[in-house]
Amino acid sequence: LKYCHEQRVPVVPQGGNTGMVGGSVPHRGDEVVLSLSRMNKIHSFDPTNAVIQCQSGCILDNLNEYLRPYGYVMPLDLGSSGSCQIGGNVATNAGGIRFLRYGSLRSNILGLKVVLANGDTIDLLNTLRKDNTGYDLKHLFIGSEGTLGVITDVCVATPMLLANSVTALLGLDYYEDAVAALSAARNKLGESIAAIEYWDSASMRISSTTQLGLGDCRFYLLVEVASNMNLESLEDRMMDFLGMYSKGVLATDEGKKKSLWKLRENIPLALKGMNGHTYKYDVSMSPHLFNQATLMVQHHLAAEYPHAQVFQYGHLADGNLHLNIWSPTFDQEIKNLAESTLYEFLRLHRGSISAEHGIGVLKAKHLNVSKSEKAIATMRNLKFLFDPYNILNPNKVLN
Ligand code: MLT
Ligand code: ZN
Repeated sequence: LKYCHEQRVPVVPQGGNTGMVGGSVPHRGDEVVLSLSRMNKIHSFDPTNAVIQCQSGCILDNLNEYLRPYGYVMPLDLGSSGSCQIGGNVATNAGGIRFLRYGSLRSNILGLKVVLANGDTIDLLNTLRKDNTGYDLKHLFIGSEGTLGVITDVCVATPMLLANSVTALLGLDYYEDAVAALSAARNKLGESIAAIEYWDSASMRISSTTQLGLGDCRFYLLVEVASNMNLESLEDRMMDFLGMYSKGVLATDEGKKKSLWKLRENIPLALKGMNGHTYKYDVSMSPHLFNQATLMVQHHLAAEYPHAQVFQYGHLADGNLHLNIWSPTFDQEIKNLAESTLYEFLRLHRGSISAEHGIGVLKAKHLNVSKSEKAIATMRNLKFLFDPYNILNPNKVLN
């Protein structure tokens, strides 16, 4: 980095390269790609403090494997856990399916070591749970997508591995029922809720060919509870919740739980596998607005582009909608129309254009939908302070 800084050579830091917005991909042609893959050493795990310390190139699944004998787990889980790296996770503040239970990755990071654009190292590798000593610099690098520094080491607070879990899938006819189920789940399942995911019938059609005995439903809600309480009590809790609905299935054994999760996890994979082009949006708003936003985009596209198909799925309880549009070929007009409709909706409702995937290169020009002019100007000032020659991941986040 020192050399690149002196020679003004742009650098693209890269972890597992599993991001969704092109943050780890060189796109100008003159960048050095800085892979962190071989910095994959796990330094230590301190069971008294439940903190793991490791290098950035460690693959998420390997960290989980390492933690398992201690009875702990990483606070995030993603579809790409077999290849994504913790440094990339931290640099993008990645979300995923444990967000509801354990909060953002940001809130679980205790320390970092970072190399700045000029080659200087800042050691912020704290393992303290409490540290209130002024500006918390690590937060500038978490979610900065490699634009302010290169994260080389991390300290992560880890939650305990829970002994039992029960998963349920509900079939619902109205979107409002899915939203109402959020409060019902909180009331009936309380602190044992581990995940609440949802998807629509279009997503179900591409994800699954198996019959679940739920019939045709317009929406599906996957609810998981996890706890150290005994399995029977956990199951009773879930049954109490499930009893409120006419269409639902329950899974307690590993195979059936996996097959229910597969229905959800298959959706992005099935979209990827479809011939044609998928336009992916990862937005944040109040859960009661997801269907309204989707119908609005669908309505705007339907008149001119009848072949375009709209899919909604996501992390309902986190307020994170994955709105995907598929068309037989890429069409810039579809992209423009979808974005102007969706982003105007977000502006109106103070939503976010990126709930968990980051900004990268794909969303950079729309940052002003979710951030004020003054906020973006302050971000630019920070970028200049850390990287005056703009060598670190140029044109990502801020274009
Ligand atoms: C997911 O939750 O499945 C991903 O974040 C979104 C995607 O891959 O479309
Ligand atoms: Zn997601």
